[in-house]
Amino acid sequence: MSCDKIRITMFSERTHWKLETNLLSKKMESLKKGGVRILDLTESNPTHAGIRYPKEILRSFNRRDNLNYEPDPRGLIRARKAVMRYYARKGICLNPPQVILTASTSEGYSHMFRLLANPGDEVLVSEPSYPLFNFLAGLCDVHLKTYPLSFETKWCIDFDEIEKRITPKTRSIMVVNPNNPTGNFVSREEISRLAEIAKRKNIALIADEVFLDYSIGAPGRSFAGNQQSLTFTLSGISKILGLPQMKLGWIVASGPSKLCDQALARLEVIADTFLSVSTPVQNALETWFAHRSAIQHQILNRVRANLKSIQLPSSCQLLDVEGGWYAVIRIPRTRSEEEWVIRFLEKDHVWVQPGYFFDFPKEAYIVVSLLTPERMFQQGMKRIAERIEHE
Ligand SMILES: Cc1ncc(COP(=O)(O)O)c(C=O)c1O
Repeated sequence: MSCDKIRITMFSERTHWKLETNLLSKKMESLKKGGVRILDLTESNPTHAGIRYPKEILRSFNRRDNLNYEPDPRGLIRARKAVMRYYARKGICLNPPQVILTASTSEGYSHMFRLLANPGDEVLVSEPSYPLFNFLAGLCDVHLKTYPLSFETKWCIDFDEIEKRITPKTRSIMVVNPNNPTGNFVSREEISRLAEIAKRKNIALIADEVFLDYSIGAPGRSFAGNQQSLTFTLSGISKILGLPQMKLGWIVASGPSKLCDQALARLEVIADTFLSVSTPVQNALETWFAHRSAIQHQILNRVRANLKSIQLPSSCQLLDVEGGWYAVIRIPRTRSEEEWVIRFLEKDHVWVQPGYFFDFPKEAYIVVSLLTPERMFQQGMKRIAERIEHE
């Protein structure tokens, strides 16, 4: 057996990832090494986006009770109450046991898969969607199966396809509300259809609402109040408060009370196994929430200004954005997405993401982050528009 093979058999199959850098990243790295200044229109880290954070965010760490360790597997009650108040402002009344704190939304997914699925079971996720799901599910031995979002004048869930793709192995339907990167909220009607299917098929709903507060027009509706079927609503402060480095998320369980209680009792054991949320962060959460509107205001102003500034040639189309931090642009199919993105990078020094990163079923789309600082965004989009027009 070759040395490589011996090494490979040492590791689990779930970690057999392609670890080589992809072509686009290689090209980007080599340009950067050559001293080229790239206009990066993919920035989605709020701490790199010039947001002004109130001083109290850091001051709130300075308290004596941060030296006590009195863990509660569901999360400290003070912090869970802060999460409850967040939903109360949306008209959703929760009880403390319904809220379980996690170190991030991503960890929330891992708890979900551990709770709901045996190895090889399936969860349904929309296509296009957020690329990390493949890793989150794979690490828990769960098989991701997609259902399409269809686009005519707006993105909609294809319910016929959901019904067709549910099998005896399906444990959950996942939705991202609003979706990353397509920016569509799940409508009231879609929520109740999803809940009806989940109830009839005896499976759970998982709703990821990390971008819920960032609506461009009408506000989105949360799943956290859904009582019709067992529902887990996931969110966290990485987007809601623009604080990804602080590592705090939550799961809200709702639905028929007996089922919900059983789910929560099991989730409590999962959370107790890791006790992964730090005490200082939980103690600070209430204070941080008090600054939610100041932080969100800056992000929303940025997102709206960037969206408004987009001017494209007639061969392109900016798809409707209802919420979130991303814009999807349909570009001419005269080249593949990869060829376009390489062209923008090498000729115009602008970095955008191709649709295939998010599993768009057809070409050609690009995805840009509306969190990018305005000047860079406008310069980058101008170069892209000129390149497409020119070619
Ligand atoms: C749709 C979606 N869900 C979850 C996450 C991860 O959130 P967290 O930082 O809380 O793990 C992201 C991060 O970009 C996201 O886009």
